[in-house]
Amino acid sequence: MIIAIDGPAASGKSTTARLVAERLSFTYLDTGAMYRAVTLAAIEQNIDPSDQKSLKDLLEDIDLDLSTRNRETQISLNDRDVSELIRSIEVTANVSAVSAEPLVREAMVVMQRMIGNRQDCVIEGRDIGTVVFPAAEFKFFIVADYAARAHRRQLDLERLGEQRSLNDLINDLKIRDQKDSSRTHSPLRKAADAIEIDTSNLTIEQQVTLIVDQVKSRL
Ligand code: DC
Repeated sequence: MIIAIDGPAASGKSTTARLVAERLSFTYLDTGAMYRAVTLAAIEQNIDPSDQKSLKDLLEDIDLDLSTRNRETQISLNDRDVSELIRSIEVTANVSAVSAEPLVREAMVVMQRMIGNRQDCVIEGRDIGTVVFPAAEFKFFIVADYAARAHRRQLDLERLGEQRSLNDLINDLKIRDQKDSSRTHSPLRKAADAIEIDTSNLTIEQQVTLIVDQVKSRL
């Protein structure tokens, strides 16, 4: 069974998806972490995402491995743990351009379907309910207002030792939303049959309970 949880950056979907997976004993898959790891690899190898030949070679070379430890996604890139590096400002600033490339999307979607077809999963991303698993049994689309999203992003960055103002973060989020929603391939979009949840004024516990209750009531 697949529970698809899509929505814009910092809408609260990661924390929610992880906890829903835990409550239901499903595997949790953070697809944003996969696009971030490819972005990190491209930055480290100085690859311009529009250079198709280099991008193709890069995708053939990289080996991604995902797991969950202490409730956090652990991701390794060619056997190197990059779980923290993929959250840096530099990766965040470049991930929209890299994830807009069809070559990258095709490779990631193949991996995501392989993982999702093997086990019950809560899969979090932008296009899970629309493209990756359009027949998912459950689809949720998580949204929140800019103030709430920027505040959450600020707390995440503080944990990494990075300080940013709320205004800067709101601007970054607007730019990323615009890029993620307007790209040609698999843009961020709510599936017609997804249930929308606005988390601006909800606690994490409330968000998780809302989804778990919906799932349990339809099982
Ligand atoms: O959820 P996140 O902020 O970690 O995602 C990082 C970027 O990856 C986001 O800006 C868009 C991209 N992404 C995507 O294109 N498709 C997905 N399924 C997940 C993330």
